[in-house]
Amino acid sequence: MNGPVIEGKLVHLRPPTSDDAVVMITWLEDMEVTRFLLRRHPPSLDEEKEWLEKMARDPDHVVWSVERNGALVGITGIHAINWKYGSGTTGTMIGDRTAWGKGLGREVMQLRTRYAFTQLPLRKLKSAYFDGNEASAKAQAAAGFREAGRYRGESFVDGRWVDQVLTEVLREDWLKANS
Ligand SMILES: CC(C)(COP(=O)(O)OP(=O)(O)OC[C@H]1O[C@@H](n2cnc3c(N)ncnc32)[C@H](O)[C@@H]1OP(=O)(O)O)[C@@H](O)C(=O)NCCC(=O)NCCS
Repeated sequence: MNGPVIEGKLVHLRPPTSDDAVVMITWLEDMEVTRFLLRRHPPSLDEEKEWLEKMARDPDHVVWSVERNGALVGITGIHAINWKYGSGTTGTMIGDRTAWGKGLGREVMQLRTRYAFTQLPLRKLKSAYFDGNEASAKAQAAAGFREAGRYRGESFVDGRWVDQVLTEVLREDWLKANS
């Protein structure tokens, strides 16, 4: 499913369109952007459009494009939602490097968490980051995610094996912190 419009102080979340794919593939060509991602090879334009169309059709995903000052800078989503057990797995890419370090990632994750716990009946969001991705670690922490465990040596980044840190935020903890 495409996510509805959510207005933040820094970012505007909106439903993706297939035209977004043109910009999105340029992010995935950039090894600085993909350093800590599982997707490290740029897709073709058609593949990226297909991915967006698949996400829009699939009721177990909610995906948003991220805009700053009217420009597309990233993509975020809640994926593989398990409606029976009330969990989903989040992901975010601020693909425009000039937009890094300005608080966008943090606000995106905070808005998405609020949506998951106030507009969807979810009880837990799961996520992860690779050791060394300090911006992701801090942005997730600011949205309430806490370390739940780690897979050792899960990915190969810049010549070394790095752990994948598994994180989660529970609805009850988020409600306590945000009421
Ligand atoms: C990870 C990502 C989403 C973070 O978004 P961002 O907008 O750059 O991050 P923010 O500006 O919101 O910063 C969040 C925190 O990280 C810190 N931070 C930002 N860049 C940093 C860096 N390079 N090194 C260390 N800390 C950093 C900020 O100071 C802030 O800390 P604070 O909460 O203590 O103030 C973004 O950089 C990104 O999409 N990177 C490429 C793809 C990726 O790695 N996605 C995440 C996969 S798990």
